[in-house]
Amino acid sequence: MSGKDPIHLEDRTQSGARLFSPTAGRNKAPIADAMMAYLPDGARVLEIASGSGEHGAHICTLRPDITWQTSDPDADSRASQNDWAKDCGGRMLKSLDIDTSQASWADNIGEYDVIYCANMIHIAPWEAATGLAAGAGNLLKVGATFILYGPFKEGEDTAESNLGFDVSLKSRNPSWGVRNLDDVKHIFSDAGFTHEARIVMPKENRMLIFTKTQ
Ligand SMILES: C[S@@+](CC[C@H](N)C(=O)[O-])C[C@H]1O[C@@H](n2cnc3c(N)ncnc32)[C@H](O)[C@@H]1O
Repeated sequence: MSGKDPIHLEDRTQSGARLFSPTAGRNKAPIADAMMAYLPDGARVLEIASGSGEHGAHICTLRPDITWQTSDPDADSRASQNDWAKDCGGRMLKSLDIDTSQASWADNIGEYDVIYCANMIHIAPWEAATGLAAGAGNLLKVGATFILYGPFKEGEDTAESNLGFDVSLKSRNPSWGVRNLDDVKHIFSDAGFTHEARIVMPKENRMLIFTKTQ
């Protein structure tokens, strides 16, 4: 099967329930390299908006000490994540139905050392980003880490490609768009996080590292 849908913005191929995202296939290695230092020994990781599930499967293969909880509001994506989990020896857990625009998304879903979310907040209404930060602030304990990956607007330093991407996203859905880095830092600060690092990634993406400090 192959087809673009308004959420995934790319052609994904499918074998059984397992989806293959061309973008995730390309960026999973640099993402894993960059985030490795932020995954403590034995880390319990919650991934929000796991999509095909390829990031978690790749990182679990590299780190046999960690457990990885996938999630997504999209049923086909959850089925794909559960299929990729078969490669991970029980350390990639059955996917949860999480929509961060729902205020209660973080209630009673276990304890985690790290939350990771890639490529979601620009293809969802801003409420998904504010809900993501607020829920993570309720869920994580002081000292835990939030890792956010994607494109951002950075004032005059914004990449031309991200300005074009922003226009294209808004033409599909006016509530979508490449988010301002400062706005994102602000909502995480409000939720009790301190911004620790901004890592430059391929194709003008950034990995933002936040630590829960309050
Ligand atoms: C472009 S895909 C990214 C998938 C994966 N993180 C990656 O980088 O390959 C965006 C994902 O965000 C999910 N999503 C959209 N709105 C969401 C929301 N409000 N809460 C959680 N996930 C959401 C979609 O279902 C989709 O799987």
